[in-house]
Amino acid sequence: MLLKSMSEKPFLSAFKGAAPASPPWWLMRQAGRYLPEYRALRKSVPGFLDLCFTPELAAEVTLQPVRRFGMDAAILFSDILVVPHALGQEVRFLEGEGPKLTPIEPRDLQPAGAADRLSPVYETVKRVRAALPAETALIGFAGAPWTVATYMVEGGSSRDFAKIKQLAVADPDRFAQIVEAVVLATIDYLDRQVQAGADALQIFETWSGVLSEPQFEKWVIAPTRRIVAAVRARHPAIPIIGFPKGAGALLPRYAQATGVDGLGLDTSMPLAWARAATGSTLLQGNLDPVVLLAGGRILDDEIDRICDAMAGHPFVFNLGHGVIKETPPEHVARVGEKLRARK
Ligand code: CP3
Repeated sequence: MLLKSMSEKPFLSAFKGAAPASPPWWLMRQAGRYLPEYRALRKSVPGFLDLCFTPELAAEVTLQPVRRFGMDAAILFSDILVVPHALGQEVRFLEGEGPKLTPIEPRDLQPAGAADRLSPVYETVKRVRAALPAETALIGFAGAPWTVATYMVEGGSSRDFAKIKQLAVADPDRFAQIVEAVVLATIDYLDRQVQAGADALQIFETWSGVLSEPQFEKWVIAPTRRIVAAVRARHPAIPIIGFPKGAGALLPRYAQATGVDGLGLDTSMPLAWARAATGSTLLQGNLDPVVLLAGGRILDDEIDRICDAMAGHPFVFNLGHGVIKETPPEHVARVGEKLRARK
């Protein structure tokens, strides 16, 4: 029995209800620009997507933070915008400007075969799986359809989401064609990641906080539920985490209606409330990335506050959003030390 529990990956045990005093951890955007070894490797390719689509390099970038800090999970190095790219939309990442997508007609999106066009990603998953220590889990991921569609419709990052919200309310049938294409491609894309060796999946819904309740129901919950159900039908045991950033009071509804196994909590989420409102669902989060950037006493105190609030509950320590690129790597190391010291 003891041997069996020791051979389990701590990250996966949490989905079975384990709640050790020292919780498993990983960080959103743990691979990336705050690491000098990432910046060095990034220079060797012309574009960010070249990095995502070169399995040898993407696998190396995935492994970099785990090697340095010993997180309990690696997250596949890729991006949520590889899906629009695979659907036939032109996606570019411009230095300092973020992603740029060229406009496309909904009828020109090509969901059939989209997942096949992402085969380098599955090769990355295979390579990482083979290289990871036995106790480390590998998380595959995709963006949720609403969040991916914001970039597809707005043409990049947005401040007010005016275009997409107008399309969603004024021409829902046209918007539904886009969402449908993303749903279909994402189901196959996640399925293929699991086939290649991902132990768990995370669905990033970064922009769930900008919708009214009925619109949230229609464009966040309904498509996510379809993806979860379809992936589950193919892989009944795969743990799926939903991260509906900014969902606020709609979190319990999201948890219950989408059927995810775990919930990512953003920094603004009150922990005692989230815990009480979502039953036995695994929770993950929610350290403020700015506190990780700051380091020192406030970082130590916040780690304790969050772990204390989650004591006895299935929990994965993480940030409330991604690592900020100016973060000193030593602060990330400190998170690991501090968590391991908790008894
Ligand atoms: O370490 C990891 O978390 C794995 C890799 C990963 C990336 N992006 C790498 C990346 C993951 C899981 C993502 C998810 C992602 N991508 C989201 C959801 C989570 C979130 O942050 O809200 C979103 C909205 C995107 C879209 C995206 N990708 C934007 C808006 C940008 C530009 C902004 C920026 O930070 O530069 C990216 C680029 C991107 N994705 C980088 C990395 C490491 C930086 C690109 C570079 O190195 O030049």
